[in-house]
Amino acid sequence: MIEFKGITKRFVRDRTPIFALRDVNLTIQQGEIFGIIGESGAGKSTLLRLINGLETPTQGTVKVSGINLSDLSKGSLRELRLNIGMIFQHFQLIQSRNVADNIAFALKAAGVKRTDFPQRIKELVSLVGLEGFETNFPSQLSGGQKQRVGIARALANNPSVLLCDEATSALDPVTTLQILELLKDLNERLGLTIILITHEIEVVKQICHRVAVMAQGEVVEVASTYDLFSQPAHDVTKHYVDTALQIELPERILRTTPGKIIRLQFTGEKTGESTLSEAIKQFDISVSILHGKVDYIQNVAFGVLIVSLTGPTLHVNKALTWLEEQLHTLEVIQDVA
Ligand SMILES: Nc1ncnc2c1ncn2[C@@H]1O[C@H](COP(=O)(O)OP(=O)(O)OP(=O)(O)O)[C@@H](O)[C@H]1O
Ligand SMILES: [Mg+2]
Repeated sequence: MIEFKGITKRFVRDRTPIFALRDVNLTIQQGEIFGIIGESGAGKSTLLRLINGLETPTQGTVKVSGINLSDLSKGSLRELRLNIGMIFQHFQLIQSRNVADNIAFALKAAGVKRTDFPQRIKELVSLVGLEGFETNFPSQLSGGQKQRVGIARALANNPSVLLCDEATSALDPVTTLQILELLKDLNERLGLTIILITHEIEVVKQICHRVAVMAQGEVVEVASTYDLFSQPAHDVTKHYVDTALQIELPERILRTTPGKIIRLQFTGEKTGESTLSEAIKQFDISVSILHGKVDYIQNVAFGVLIVSLTGPTLHVNKALTWLEEQLHTLEVIQDVA
């Protein structure tokens, strides 16, 4: 649906060139919820703005539904833009107009017939769950409700793509979840392709099917969300995943715990506890759980356990080898005799 090929974007500020994007190659499928994560200044917004032609690449091509954007006339580009909705961190509502009129403004821009306005407004208000708030002004809405208006406006022209630039960054965690649920629902019900920029790995975990990790203008990793969490490849990605899992053993515990301390990771099919209890029986060792967490990424379990193994060295070593075979990911973090 969207294809970036060899994209470089250079800005010039005070005569110094700034490379916002460097050789970006990326394909986003129709119907996907695709996340773009990265630190401030990584180039996320610039990449997003290439999709609707708000920015043009210095080098490379951007294709939307097979059409090379640089081949389009101004008029055709405007037409293509109507098929792409966008929502923002600070909602971009018209403060002096109520909910219905904010939506009407977007309908007008999309060229909808005025006589169709009442019906479309009703549909859009119901789509985003704002029934009863039609006459409220933005100042009379919560952050989450404002973003719902933002979404209704972005969907005014029945676009097939929705771009979200930090759409939940100004919201509290509970409201963020509600907005993400709404986006997921729109993706499923309307087949809407959603491209979502965030710097919060939690957002990715909740709804993205696939993710691109960006750092300093480059896409350093692209993976399915599950793979990103279970086997992060790039250091930047590892940092995000560690932050999300929040599993670290206090230094004092490390120093005072005898035996081999290991970190095991387990995924959906094989739970860590059952494998461990099997090892205890088979090799006659003792296991203490020091830390652990089971998380769910799109309803598939993903867990990390930090345990210490004690017992005769031979038994412990045999158990280690066996555990490694069973779980594939095992790391010895301390080895004290
Ligand atoms: N119009 C511009 N002129 C000059 N430099 C720009 C322009 N737009 C972006 N940049 C620079 O390009 C780089 C990437 O910016 P971009 O806005 O894409 O980052 P971002 O990942 O969206 O960051 P944030 O998370 O803070 O929104 C930054 O160094 C930024 O300063
Ligand atoms: Mg940005």
